[in-house]
Amino acid sequence: MTIIINMKESLNLRKIRIAARFIKEGKLVAFPTETVYGLGGDALNENSVKKIFLTKGRPADNPLIVHIASFEQLYELASTIPKEAKILAKRFWPGPLTFVLPKRDEVPSITTGGLDTVAVRMPANEIALSLIKLSKKPIAAPSANISGKPSPTSAEHVVDDFYGKIECIIDGGETEIGVESTVLDLTSKPPTLLRPGGLPLEEIERVIGKIKIHPAVKGRIVDVARAPGMKYRHYAPSAQVIVIEGKKDRVHEKIVELIDKYHCEGLKVGVMATGGFYDADAFIDLGRNSEEVARNLFKALRELDKKGVDIILAEGIEEKGLGLAVMNRLKKAAGYRTILLR
Ligand code: TXA
Ligand code: MG
Repeated sequence: MTIIINMKESLNLRKIRIAARFIKEGKLVAFPTETVYGLGGDALNENSVKKIFLTKGRPADNPLIVHIASFEQLYELASTIPKEAKILAKRFWPGPLTFVLPKRDEVPSITTGGLDTVAVRMPANEIALSLIKLSKKPIAAPSANISGKPSPTSAEHVVDDFYGKIECIIDGGETEIGVESTVLDLTSKPPTLLRPGGLPLEEIERVIGKIKIHPAVKGRIVDVARAPGMKYRHYAPSAQVIVIEGKKDRVHEKIVELIDKYHCEGLKVGVMATGGFYDADAFIDLGRNSEEVARNLFKALRELDKKGVDIILAEGIEEKGLGLAVMNRLKKAAGYRTILLR
């Protein structure tokens, strides 16, 4: 049975205490963060973490992010804390930024996918922070979706994937940011961006200067040593996604042409764009700027899937600000099937 706790209106500590007890008992609780919903369990309890992997169907070598509620908690997880971590945490925590740091022995190796580093962040969501504080545990939480599916930005998405399979879902309404946290490896010099996310690269660089960008961020990867999660198919709906990017008017023309082509083949076509209108079987306007697009992206992928389209044509956006994270997710959802028009 899954208990659904409604907390859309206001924080209710009495109810969070119920969920916190589940965490202490080694059970799983899905909860909102500012980025996406997480599937949480006690990060230091091997059995809880095992359940997370099994429930998601997640490959064992794809490490989890551990969530904390105070900077001091970082000392329980990481063996070395460089000055960049202190500076960045001061500026951006709680918030959508995850650090990869050398792990302490107390962190089970199952949590870190067998790596000797651990990923940690402090989420900017009162429900999440209270759950961590009341359970008195660091909480391991990957996005609360079945492995390979788009991440959940509402409790309904979590219900779709996990109802009946986990102990508890806390419904805190729709998440604000809509894409997962930015993952920054602080064990390299300079630090390396492993996954673009809710905190734009430009903002990090404004504080600590130039950082390296892992080649997987913008394209398909070959070297999987550092971010094992990158090698798996992600965010993918059942439909084939095709990303069309480049000059706005040429992109528009191309999408119109492709809708026609696929219709002639008897296929059902969905379009996701930023403004404009397309006469397809389903059309979703993702918004006017990269923040809006980020907020709507995963929901749109799930909605188009529910409509049963065969093909999703997605307009690309500029890889600036949250646009870098949006394009990274879109390209992965498309299995790197992109058309670039200059
Ligand atoms: O916004 C988020 O980060 C959400 C919410 C729930 O906090 N969580 C999330 O977790 O996106 P997940 O498990 O779906 O993504 C974890 C990412 C993966 O890309 C994984 O490869 C990377 O973090 N990661 C975790 N530990 C790592 C490590 N030790 N070294 C390198 N990458 C690591
Ligand atoms: Mg995920």
